[in-house]
Amino acid sequence: MLRVAVVGSGPSGCYTAQSLVQRDPDVQVDVLDRLPCPYGLVRYGVAPDHEKIKSLQNNLRTVLEHDRVRFLGGVAVGGPRGIPVKRLRELYHAVVYCVGAATDRRLGIPGEHLTGSWSATEFVSWYSAHPDAVDEGFLRGVRSAVVIGLGNVAVDVTRMLVRGVGELRPTDMPQGALDALAASGVTDVHMVGRRGPTQARFTTKELRELGGLPGTEVIVDPRELALDPAFAEPSALSALPAVQRRNAEVLRDWAAAPPREVDRRIRMRFFLRPVEVLGQDGRVAGVRFERTAPDGHGGVTGTGRFEEVPAQLVLRSVGYRGVPLEGLPFDATRGTVPHLEGRIVRDGVASPGEYVAGWIKRGPTGVIGTNRPCAKETVTSLLADAPALASQQVPEDPLPALRAAGIEPVPWQGWLAIERAEADLGARLGRNVVKLANWDALLGAARSG
Ligand SMILES: Cc1cc2nc3c(=O)[nH]c(=O)nc-3n(C[C@H](O)[C@H](O)[C@H](O)COP(=O)(O)OP(=O)(O)OC[C@H]3O[C@@H](n4cnc5c(N)ncnc54)[C@H](O)[C@@H]3O)c2cc1C
Ligand SMILES: NC(=O)c1ccc[n+]([C@@H]2O[C@H](COP(=O)([O-])OP(=O)(O)OC[C@H]3O[C@@H](n4cnc5c(N)ncnc54)[C@H](OP(=O)(O)O)[C@@H]3O)[C@@H](O)[C@H]2O)c1
Repeated sequence: MLRVAVVGSGPSGCYTAQSLVQRDPDVQVDVLDRLPCPYGLVRYGVAPDHEKIKSLQNNLRTVLEHDRVRFLGGVAVGGPRGIPVKRLRELYHAVVYCVGAATDRRLGIPGEHLTGSWSATEFVSWYSAHPDAVDEGFLRGVRSAVVIGLGNVAVDVTRMLVRGVGELRPTDMPQGALDALAASGVTDVHMVGRRGPTQARFTTKELRELGGLPGTEVIVDPRELALDPAFAEPSALSALPAVQRRNAEVLRDWAAAPPREVDRRIRMRFFLRPVEVLGQDGRVAGVRFERTAPDGHGGVTGTGRFEEVPAQLVLRSVGYRGVPLEGLPFDATRGTVPHLEGRIVRDGVASPGEYVAGWIKRGPTGVIGTNRPCAKETVTSLLADAPALASQQVPEDPLPALRAAGIEPVPWQGWLAIERAEADLGARLGRNVVKLANWDALLGAARSG
């Protein structure tokens, strides 16, 4: 048996494990995760109201229940209480790092760290019940919010800010976040991009969904659309890739729509680059933007004209970022681990038995399905190396070594107990499944199993 450790149980970790056991009957896989819960961002990122995408957890579950795959939760690699990278490599013939991109990119502008200015990562972790999330009182006293960025995460957090509690109650959102959203006084969300509508990164299905939210109107200023050369010239619009063309159609319809009597408004803004988060008494009071103009090469330049948008909450949704793992090489510019076809590269040379897949390999873009071919490429490299790797002496079972390092993994049965506890909590609250939102509750439930 070739013993492989996959670090991370998100989509890339699960697809790596699946590809390994499907393609080689002599491979046994341990999937390690620092959390007691599997599925990575499918559990802790995909928005709670996207139940169909959330249900992909069922597909990932079949991988982790395969008889040659074992889930070991609560096992961090690296860090003060984790198993060191070097030691892990001694316990397995090969290790595949699928650790995702856990933090956020920074804007690097004054006021970014004022109270009331948070990354989308922090906000998403809170409403997703990530046990490391902190309740920052995100919505307290907020009427107007600015969301910076025009990606799908920006669309998610914008939608969560205006979704009615009636629509969120059937989801697995933690009770604290549901209560805070129910009490929210947010009436205006300004979703702001530094480039034009045809350079936005969101996809049409996600964009269109904003227009169908009850009691909410999407406002687009036709004068701002006209700043995009593609809108001024109809033949330029039809020459765009399908997603951009369809996005443009949706935005043009919204720009032409008459105003409605609604409780909440999403104002979609373009060609505004954030230059300062404004504060008053140490709290966010708004954002100062500079008007930009297309530079003719897909980018923008500043125009020296400025605009201020009042807000009590700023969510910076400008992309995620990989974090370095002690003992692994790291490309600080890209926020990824350097690799060649999935083989980790140390000092310019592929390191035997060490691999990467997913966001830590490619950077923080791509949907769940993108991780499948990415994982396959890595597995192809690993299996090509397998004959050389198999000669390494490794323990029959690495569990005693993990325990000797002070780590008591949460087994699959422990995760199933967490699932039962979340169903019980939902029943007690008169809801469906409700997620446990802190370490003590998760580990307590896991131990009971
Ligand atoms: C907010 C948000 C919403 C999204 N919504 C959608 C969507 O609706 N549809 C869609 O198709 N895609 C969506 N995506 C994209 C999708 O989630 C990613 O493509 C995918 O999750 C990346 O997979 P991954 O396995 O590389 O990373 P992750 O899913 O982040 O998994 C990484 C795993 O590694 C574990 N880990 C990290 N460090 C360590 C360590 N040191 N030791 C042990 N374990 C560790 C983490 O706990 C985690 O479980 C969304 C992304 C975000 C950020
Ligand atoms: N429903 C879904 O399918 C779903 C949901 C959520 C996430 N995802 C996927 O997850 C991945 C990550 O999504 P994401 O939204 O985090 O990233 P993203 O798609 O890369 O979008 C990041 C946004 O931030 C902007 N930005 C970056 N730096 C900036 C700066 N300094 N100032 C102002 N704006 C800045 C970008 O603008 P520029 O273009 O100008 O750089 C872009 O609009 C994507 O592939 C996404 O599709 C999918």
